[in-house]
Amino acid sequence: MADAIAIIGGTGALGRGLAARLALAGRDVVIGSRDASRAAEVASSITGEGTVTGLSNADAAAAGNIVFVCVPFSSQAPTLKEIKGSLSEGTILVDATVPLATNVGGPPTRTLGVWQGSAAQQAESLVPAGVTVVAGLHTVSADLLGDLEHDLDEDTLLCSNDRDAIAKVAEILNLVPGLRSIDAGRLELAKVTEQMTALMISINIRHKARTGVRVTGLNPDA
Ligand SMILES: NC(=O)c1ccc[n+]([C@@H]2O[C@H](COP(=O)([O-])OP(=O)(O)OC[C@H]3O[C@@H](n4cnc5c(N)ncnc54)[C@H](OP(=O)(O)O)[C@@H]3O)[C@@H](O)[C@H]2O)c1
Repeated sequence: MADAIAIIGGTGALGRGLAARLALAGRDVVIGSRDASRAAEVASSITGEGTVTGLSNADAAAAGNIVFVCVPFSSQAPTLKEIKGSLSEGTILVDATVPLATNVGGPPTRTLGVWQGSAAQQAESLVPAGVTVVAGLHTVSADLLGDLEHDLDEDTLLCSNDRDAIAKVAEILNLVPGLRSIDAGRLELAKVTEQMTALMISINIRHKARTGVRVTGLNPDA
């Protein structure tokens, strides 16, 4: 049976774009919000082969066995505490959070220090045992993801201590045409991939662009 996909913060820029792309690819998605009626309203605005349903964050988390978390860094910990009781053993939690300094009023080209090393590692410290954290989507522009007329042409770097979990998440994200997932290593490397967002924002500002990353030279047989 296909993995059930939930997106916490699915009413926001990144989550909504991801839901729309996955629905277009024929997958059913549940999006979560602090306000179930807002989630339902956003869900009803998304059309595709797959169905999109809107629920509270906790109910959405309970419905998914692959749960994307797409909320601002300042609300990552409270959100994880809110949904913790709904995450069952074996769930894969995909954390897209970037600890941008904008969360405390700073510039978007700077990041905040996180005690655990990265936002993804903070997530790992907050989820119940038996839940696997995968970090990803940091360099994927929500604007481009949400612009369904735009063909993506980029990679997303996935980090986790569980390679099987990376493969499962990659299988889902690879449904988005033009988006390729790459196993980038252990979860501790999320501190690098999260920093890349600040770098991309700086490049975008300087070049008035909406850029993505591409890794070259991969061995297709490996
Ligand atoms: N935007 C991008 O291009 C991009 C790219 C890669 C990674 N990211 C990362 O992905 C995450 C989501 O980005 P985004 O641009 O989609 O964020 P966003 O639109 O600002 O927020 C996403 C959702 O989070 C919920 N939220 C907002 N403030 C909250 C709060 N104080 N407490 C609890 N929930 C709150 C809201 O949902 P409800 O009000 O419905 O609950 C909102 O719709 C961020 O950590 C960001 O750094 C973003």
